[in-house]
Amino acid sequence: MTTKTKLIAGNWKMNGSLAGNAALIEILREHIGRPASEVVVCVPAPYLQQVQGLLAGSPIDLGAQDVSAEPQGAFTGEHSAAMLKDFGVRYVIVGHSERRKYHRETDEEVAAKTAAALSHGITPIVCVGETLQQRDAGRTAEVVKRQLAAVIHVNGHCISEIVVAYEPIWAIGTGQTAAPEQAQAVHALLRAQLHHAASEHAAGIRILYGGSMNATNAADLLAQPDIDGGLIGGASLVAPNFLQIIAAAR
Ligand code: PGA
Repeated sequence: MTTKTKLIAGNWKMNGSLAGNAALIEILREHIGRPASEVVVCVPAPYLQQVQGLLAGSPIDLGAQDVSAEPQGAFTGEHSAAMLKDFGVRYVIVGHSERRKYHRETDEEVAAKTAAALSHGITPIVCVGETLQQRDAGRTAEVVKRQLAAVIHVNGHCISEIVVAYEPIWAIGTGQTAAPEQAQAVHALLRAQLHHAASEHAAGIRILYGGSMNATNAADLLAQPDIDGGLIGGASLVAPNFLQIIAAAR
């Protein structure tokens, strides 16, 4: 069992509005108290400035959902790590399965984005995970290990600077959570891979679980020895549910 501080990260995805964000953060601030874990909300880029203001003086950090691998220039629609830094972003999700799927992000691009975030002092939350088809074909280990291998040796940076999120694609937004033991088995594989690459840091690297984590199943998942937090989509949009998950993380 590791004793590192857990990380509870909300992934709002493409949800929110000025009024809705204000209402959500107000309830979170009112009830969060002093959480035992680190808490971050990864918001859509247009709301970074608003949510930065809403979170000021609270224990909740600001996060983003994507970052360009490029520093600046003619990349319409993209935003750079330096821009995220301007708004006090501490964490950025990189390589989410929805980006790998809808934007065809490759392992190489995920590695380049990871490097861009790290070079600006932003902690990347690097997502890995298999499809149902890959799981059924017995390829889970091969897929997640390949995805993790791509970010283990980012030039000039130490693997201890990243957060890993295991998100089985079949569990995302489906209500079908991985059983705690099922998730733990993959987390243990990832931990072993980290240990092999950097034995002195492996125990301290946080590996989050994501995929239909909710107020009911969070405690069991978070009790697993290699589950160091959660990346939460749907349940992070409902203040009482997100608060219950935060309370379950100790
Ligand atoms: P979910 O999403 O909690 O809605 O399943 C998790 C994620 O995609 O990060």
